Amino acid sequence: MLRELRLSLSLTLLLACGFLYRFAFKPHCFFSCRLTSQSQQELEVLLGQGHSIVFLETSERTEPSLLASCAVESAAKTYPQQPVVFFMKGLSNSMRLPPNSTHPAFCLLSAISNVFLFPLDMERLLEDTPLLSWYTHVNTSAQSNWLHVSSDAARLAVIWKYGGIYLDTDVISIRPVPEDNFLAAQASHFSSNGVFGFLPRHPFLWGCMENFVEHYDSDIWGHQGPDLLSRMLRVWCRLGDFQEVSDQHCADLSFLHPRRFYPIPYPQWRRYYEVWDSDHSFNDSYALHLWNYMNQEGKTVERGSNTLVEKLYRKHCPLTYRHLIQGPKALGPGELGSSNR
Ligand SMILES: *[C@@H]1O[C@H](CO)[C@@H](O)[C@H](O)[C@H]1NC(C)=O
Ligand SMILES: *[C@@H]1O[C@H](CO)[C@@H](O)[C@H](O)[C@H]1NC(C)=O
Ligand SMILES: *[C@@H]1O[C@H](CO)[C@@H](O)[C@H](O)[C@H]1NC(C)=O
Repeated sequence: MLRELRLSLSLTLLLACGFLYRFAFKPHCFFSCRLTSQSQQELEVLLGQGHSIVFLETSERTEPSLLASCAVESAAKTYPQQPVVFFMKGLSNSMRLPPNSTHPAFCLLSAISNVFLFPLDMERLLEDTPLLSWYTHVNTSAQSNWLHVSSDAARLAVIWKYGGIYLDTDVISIRPVPEDNFLAAQASHFSSNGVFGFLPRHPFLWGCMENFVEHYDSDIWGHQGPDLLSRMLRVWCRLGDFQEVSDQHCADLSFLHPRRFYPIPYPQWRRYYEVWDSDHSFNDSYALHLWNYMNQEGKTVERGSNTLVEKLYRKHCPLTYRHLIQGPKALGPGELGSSNR
């Protein structure tokens, strides 16, 4: 017993040292691109701690959108002791660093001490899961919604294998989620798959991966995504309707009230881009989903607009706000970390 304790303590210490080393040697220059963690081993050590925050980009783009930059930065800020791992399909292992000038968001994120950018290697991620045989047989060019479907698969596999929290790149984190195993309700009886978190190797996610393969149909939008989590949840839990702002619990799973992540429901997504009369602190929420897929008209955050989204950026992703939205003109010499002029 005592020996076990000692062993696990020294292991923890070893990991912590590795971490301190990595954190301390990240550059503190926000426009200098760095790919510090590239090896599979490093990835395993980071994810192996079981409490990573995971983002995915399944398209080939390597320069994150402003919103994605804000999402990742806000997660790094909300979970300062946890690694934030951003998998990008467009980063091949052999890729040279993108130039500072054309990839400002990439470079900004790469310089944040607990953010780690990795190439997305689907086969490796899906290894040892029911999804691998599906993935190696599927004709990707014949699938509808392939970017979404492959992202649906990858998020299940990575959280099943390593544990942690998955977040979409249009989710701004505002306070930590105090749950180990959770799904985010979009409405009573209906789960989203834009946010979820589990301890490693949770049987719920294994069941989801099996069901994914068994009932695979890429022509039905969301069938492998929110619909999959919702139908599995109905098998696992006897769900009721949500009352007030209380979450539902069944076995070791929490089904979190819609207001935790979706205080503004999707038909009203434009409210994020409006000026609000009063300040709203979203006290009942852990993160805010901005429904970017609804945003076909390309609404974005505008400097000085005083919209809700601008306030959110300023507060929850201040580096993205200052460097990418206010622009280089707003930078004084050596202004990092200091207040505005
Ligand atoms: C990126 O910027 C850093 C410092 O800001 C500089 O040292 C480095 O040479 C730049 N790299 C490229 C490729 O421009
Ligand atoms: C994959 O799908 C594409 C588009 O439907 C088709 O042209 C191609 O022949 C398929 N490839 C295989 C190996 O079936
Ligand atoms: C929200 O939280 C803040 C600070 O924690 C508090 O001052 C404020 O009264 C709260 N607002 C509501 C509506 O509960």
